[in-house]
Amino acid sequence: MKTFYITTPIYYVNDIPHIGHAYTTIACDAISRYKRMKGYDVHFLTGTDEHGQKIQAAAEKKGITPQQLVDEIHKNFKDLWKVLNISNDDFIRTTEERHIKTVQAMFKKLIDQGDIYKGTYSGYYCVPCETYVPENAMGENKTCPDCGRPLTIMEEESYFFKASKYVPELIKFYEEHVKAVMPKIRYNEIMSFLKSGVHDQSVSRTSLKWGIPVPGDEKHVVYVWFDALINYASAIGYLDDPERFNKWWPDVRHMVGKDIIRFHCVIWPLMLIALGLNIPVEVIAHGWWTYNGEKMSKTKGNVVDPFAMVKEYGLDPFRYFLLREVPFGNDGDFSERALVGRINSDLANDLGNLLNRTLQMIKSYRDGIVPSCDDSSSDLSRLAPEILSRVDECMNDYAFDDALKAIWEFISRSNKFIDETMPWKLAKDENESQKLNHVLLNLYEALRLSAMLIAPFMPDTSEQIFSQLGLKDNPLKCQYDLFKWGDSSGNRIGEAKVLFPRIDVNEWQKA
Ligand code: MSP
Repeated sequence: MKTFYITTPIYYVNDIPHIGHAYTTIACDAISRYKRMKGYDVHFLTGTDEHGQKIQAAAEKKGITPQQLVDEIHKNFKDLWKVLNISNDDFIRTTEERHIKTVQAMFKKLIDQGDIYKGTYSGYYCVPCETYVPENAMGENKTCPDCGRPLTIMEEESYFFKASKYVPELIKFYEEHVKAVMPKIRYNEIMSFLKSGVHDQSVSRTSLKWGIPVPGDEKHVVYVWFDALINYASAIGYLDDPERFNKWWPDVRHMVGKDIIRFHCVIWPLMLIALGLNIPVEVIAHGWWTYNGEKMSKTKGNVVDPFAMVKEYGLDPFRYFLLREVPFGNDGDFSERALVGRINSDLANDLGNLLNRTLQMIKSYRDGIVPSCDDSSSDLSRLAPEILSRVDECMNDYAFDDALKAIWEFISRSNKFIDETMPWKLAKDENESQKLNHVLLNLYEALRLSAMLIAPFMPDTSEQIFSQLGLKDNPLKCQYDLFKWGDSSGNRIGEAKVLFPRIDVNEWQKA
């Protein structure tokens, strides 16, 4: 069986989860569910990044130890993944033994083979971002190009990773694998960065206590990014389970925000080359969400809380909105008005109505039993295979929005089919009985296929539709390639319920 190993970034636990975290994780969930339906053996990893300056500072502020802080805050992420119906197979914390030992073993291996050496580092450092910033990348008045805060000069003894040594090999790899970094704009960014030269990287700190001790030199702790990146390998048994590691590693891919691609597409692959491991087959970078056009920040108090969104609008509408609203890779704006718009139009009007109208008609015209007809072919049955393969292509490119657009094209076509065939007229004429059977069977099949197609994005809704259609299978367990236009005649439909209540925009505005 083909394997598919996908990871989210591991999230800092200095703060509560927000929409950016939810977004990456939902996207990984959708692709994982999709690949499972395609018959892949999937391993989906997420977790938390628990060491470093940010965590130490957050703990100090709260007057607790870093360990207490991470033990507390990581639970918010686990809770959120439950609320968001995330199907991750593992959750790694960088304070776990399996991870700490792996980091130390890799660090030692690189020291032993001469790829990590001791030196002195001096440079401009951004404390909140925990990065040294090269002079040519600084903002005005020596500020951090990422967060805009002032930089401080730091000098410390440090271990260095000989990143520069492996750059030519990495450039060659990317020249031969143009889809290893997606989308193209990020690939180009990484290539020009690599070609402009990469310095050896400082990979330890003496200025900080909260980290993994460097093996054999405990006044140093391992730099948090060197530590964090290794989670992708430590979680699958790099150290003590070679069989498990070799099963997943060759097909590893990372989904990340565009702000952390240098770590994932430059530093990490260089570490992997030095360690003799293959480079990730894909790094997929998504854009950033703003809120009502503004950058989210705690000081502005406009950080979107995923728990609150789910409570207010429901889980599947939230999942749908995030993946449908912006092309993956682009920046997007989160606005509740736009979310309400999508709930009313795409979900309540298009999908909800199609289900409701179809079930009502099968109930009143055929006593709730799906009728049979000699030949169910129609515009819908001819469109179905085209939609299936379009969704497949889009998913291979992580174009979630286009996949959903294709599915909604099918749903809209089905609604139009009702308007064109006017089953309420057919029902009045005995001679049109066969035609009516044909229409009802077509609509039922279209809904069965649509429910399967939306399963990776909206798993609960998909199950609800199956149950309302009276289908006993679990759509998420269906194998995509076996899902074809079929003949469901004779099935008894289940109980019809409203899938997505319409939101009264006037009332909503007042609230
Ligand atoms: N701990 C590091 C990752 C280490 S991976 C080996 C980290 N953590 S983070 O919690 O700060 O960010 C995690 C992810 O959230 C990043 O991919 C980042 O792009 C994403 N987002 C943070 N804010 C975001 C938005 N406003 N919009 C979309 N994603 C954003 O970085």
